[in-house]
Amino acid sequence: MTTFSPEQLKAATRLAWEKSASGWNSQTQNIHAWLAEATAAMLDAARITVGMRVLDIAAGAGDQTLDIARRVGPAGYVLATDISECILQFAKDHALRAGLTHVETRVCDAEELNVEEASFDAAVCRLGLSFFPDPLWALRQAQRAVKPGAHVTVLVFSEPQYNPCIGILMATALRHAGLPPRDPFQPGNLLSLGKPGLLDELYRKAEFTDITTTRISAPFRLPSVKEYLAFVRTSASPIMQILGNLDPEAQEAAWAEMEDRLRAFQSPAGWEGPNELLLADGTRPAR
Ligand SMILES: C[S@@+](CC[C@H](N)C(=O)[O-])C[C@H]1O[C@@H](n2cnc3c(N)ncnc32)[C@H](O)[C@@H]1O
Repeated sequence: MTTFSPEQLKAATRLAWEKSASGWNSQTQNIHAWLAEATAAMLDAARITVGMRVLDIAAGAGDQTLDIARRVGPAGYVLATDISECILQFAKDHALRAGLTHVETRVCDAEELNVEEASFDAAVCRLGLSFFPDPLWALRQAQRAVKPGAHVTVLVFSEPQYNPCIGILMATALRHAGLPPRDPFQPGNLLSLGKPGLLDELYRKAEFTDITTTRISAPFRLPSVKEYLAFVRTSASPIMQILGNLDPEAQEAAWAEMEDRLRAFQSPAGWEGPNELLLADGTRPAR
């Protein structure tokens, strides 16, 4: 089995998101609807309110960045960071178009946050932490960035059995690519922090206080399986990475099998793929 260094993993992740940037951005409306409740819960848990300075880590195309910016209002400030310059450019453009001039963007690795210590009132990370080779170090960096008593709050996918569509996509893609099944909890994987107890343990090791982890159901609802596949095909960078080396015909065969299997979640009312997220929150200890 080939093993990759954290640097190689990170370079591959960055490249994959540079490639998926416009696809993820084009799906903003669907992503917004899918994650609206979970995002509101994340901002509530982080106690984000008017006038705050908030750090948005792995902000992507900025969907949650705009929610944060609207919450904190013009008296507040949001710094959206991401390792991919391409995807972050979308966040910058959306903020500008929405007239949210109190949003800034900065390309930076979450494991090397180049921000001043204790300069934020809260930090959040929506569906980013699982991709980092060293999520514990990233949590420590986030904690350093916020003031004593401030919250660091993240959303990640929970265990594979509660996210069955991701399992179907991964298993099918790997088989078609001639690759062995992957340990879903392998660092850097989409589901890596769904391992029972792991997220709590990371928060404890990073020495947060008042740690809580809550499960949030986030079903993905679309008119049909075709729209879900369109979402995956344009934006799901880990699956595209796996299929990337296959010729077009072989890729189509993989997509066709995924569609077949995912049709199980179709009902007369539409397509509904179950997903479960973990919302973890912790406070930087007061000095
Ligand atoms: C699933 S997207 C989530 C984007 C956004 N937070 C959202 O929920 O729409 C994951 C993001 O993590 C970013 N990312 C991956 N590894 C990173 C790292 N080491 N440092 C910062 N960002 C990273 C990717 O570039 C991508 O934008």
